[in-house]
Amino acid sequence: MYWLGLDVGTGGSRALLVDASGRVQYSFTAAHDEMRMLKPLWAEQDPDNWWHAGQAAIGGVLHLAGAEGKDIAGIGLTGQMHGLVLLNAQNKVIRPALIWCDQRSQKQVDFINGKLGADFVLKATANPMLTGFTLPKLLWVRDNEPAKFEAVRHILLPKDYLRFKLTGEFASDVSDASGTALFDVVNRKWSSGMMAGLGLDQAILPRACESSEVTGQLSAEAAAATGLRAGIPVVAGAGDQAASAIGNGIVKPGTMSCTIGTSGVVFAYLQQPAYDPQGRVHTFCHAVPKAWHVMGVTQGAGLSLQWFRNRFAPQTEYDDLTADATLSPAGSQGLFWLPYLMGERTPHLDAEARASWIGLTAKHQKSDLIRAILEGVCFSQKDGLEIVASLGARPELVRLSGGGGKSPFWHQLFADIFNVRVATLETQEGSAFGAALLAMVGTKHFASAEEACNAAVKEVSVKDPDTDQVSFYQKQYAVYQSLYPTLQEVFQNIGKLNE
Ligand code: XUL
Repeated sequence: MYWLGLDVGTGGSRALLVDASGRVQYSFTAAHDEMRMLKPLWAEQDPDNWWHAGQAAIGGVLHLAGAEGKDIAGIGLTGQMHGLVLLNAQNKVIRPALIWCDQRSQKQVDFINGKLGADFVLKATANPMLTGFTLPKLLWVRDNEPAKFEAVRHILLPKDYLRFKLTGEFASDVSDASGTALFDVVNRKWSSGMMAGLGLDQAILPRACESSEVTGQLSAEAAAATGLRAGIPVVAGAGDQAASAIGNGIVKPGTMSCTIGTSGVVFAYLQQPAYDPQGRVHTFCHAVPKAWHVMGVTQGAGLSLQWFRNRFAPQTEYDDLTADATLSPAGSQGLFWLPYLMGERTPHLDAEARASWIGLTAKHQKSDLIRAILEGVCFSQKDGLEIVASLGARPELVRLSGGGGKSPFWHQLFADIFNVRVATLETQEGSAFGAALLAMVGTKHFASAEEACNAAVKEVSVKDPDTDQVSFYQKQYAVYQSLYPTLQEVFQNIGKLNE
C-alpha cells in the first residue's frame, strides 16, 4: 500500500508515494509553465496548468511504481500558499491566479488598513496586511476588473483547486487558510469580522479543516483523469511550509527548519500563537491540531540561484554552480547579494525592494557572483531566524531542506552564518512528503503527525558552525544589514519610474 503526496509548487507539481513505514519510494515532477509577469513584480499562473501537471505527476509516479489506483490508501495535498483562484457559478476559472509572489496590491493593503485599522487586522488575523497575502489580491480584482469580480462564487488556494478537481469539494486547511488574511489564526476559523468589514460574502470561502481531516473522496471523473481509484480519501493537507515542516519533523516545541525552495522559509513550532509586534514574520496555524508556527520568508531564495542559472548559465547543473562558488573566498571578495527579486517580506515588508549585487569590481568572477548569491540568501534567512528566535524559539539545531539542503557547501554556509548546528534529513522531499504523512494520519495509519514523524523523519548529516567563519560572517552580516536601509529610498524611486 502507498500514500500519495501531491505538491502544487511554483515550478512544477510533484507527486510522491510513501510506503507503510513512511519511507518515500517514488516521486515524479511535471513542470508548470513559467509564471507570467506582465509587469515587474506581477506573477500569474493558470490553475488548469497546475491541474494538467498534477495529472501528469500522478500518472508519472504510478507508472514508476508499477502501481494502480487500488494500491493508494490516501492522498494528501500541499502547495504554494497565498494564491488567488477565482471560480464562477459554473465552477470555471475566471482569470489566471495571482500567485504568492505577486506584489501588485499595495494600494489595496493601504485601503484595508485605512478602512479596518491595522490594529483590527492584527487582532483578527494575527498578522499585518501584506501584498503577498490573498485578500489584497482579491480586492485588486474588485478594483480593477469589476465584471470578473462580480462573477466570483468561490475563492480557492492553489492546492484546493486541485482538491476541487479531484473530489468536487470546496475545502481548505487551517495552515493554508492562515495565509489569506481572512482567517482568525488564533481561533482556527474564517474571520467573519474581516469579511463583513470589507463587504465580502462569506459564502465564497471554502470549508476550513484541520490538516489531517478527510475532506472528501476521489470522484469517478478524477479517477478516470488520473488513473487512481474512485473513493480514495483526500485529506485537507497543508500550505507548502507547514507540510514541509511535517516532512522535516517540526512537530514539537524547540524545533526549527529552514526550507530553500523558490522562496526561503525559517519555520518554528509554537505551542501558543505569538507574534512579532512589527509583523515581520508570519504567525499561522500549524498542520498539527492545537499548534501554531511562526515563519520568516525570503521571497527570492532558491529563485535567486534559479534566476541566475536561467538567465546566464542555462546549460549548467545546480551542483556545478555551487561547485563554482567554492572557488570564491568567503565574503565573495567584498560582493553582497540582496535577494529581493520579488520585493521582500521578512524583515522589510517592502513590495518595492529590488535585488542587487553591491560591491562589484572588475576583479569579480562568475564564481564570486554565485557565492554572493548563496551568502545573501543565508543572510536574508538569518534576518528571519533572529526575529523568530526573539519570540522565544531560539533553536539548538536547524533542519535544512529543499534545494538548499542538497549542496554540502551551502549547508556549511548556513551553519556558519546562522551560528547554529544545521542538519539535513534522509528525505529532502519537504512538502510532498509532509502531505503524504498527513494522509497517513488522516487514514489512521499513524495516530498523530508526531508519531508519523518519529517513524519516518531521520537526520543524516549535521554540520557544526566553524568558529573562524562565524566571526568572519558576523562582520559581513553587519554590512549586509546596513544595505537595505541605505537603498530603501532608491528602490521606491525605481518603482515610481515604472508606474
Ligand atoms: C510562504 C510562501 C511561499 C509560497 C511558495 O508564505 O509564500 O512558501 O508558498 O512556496
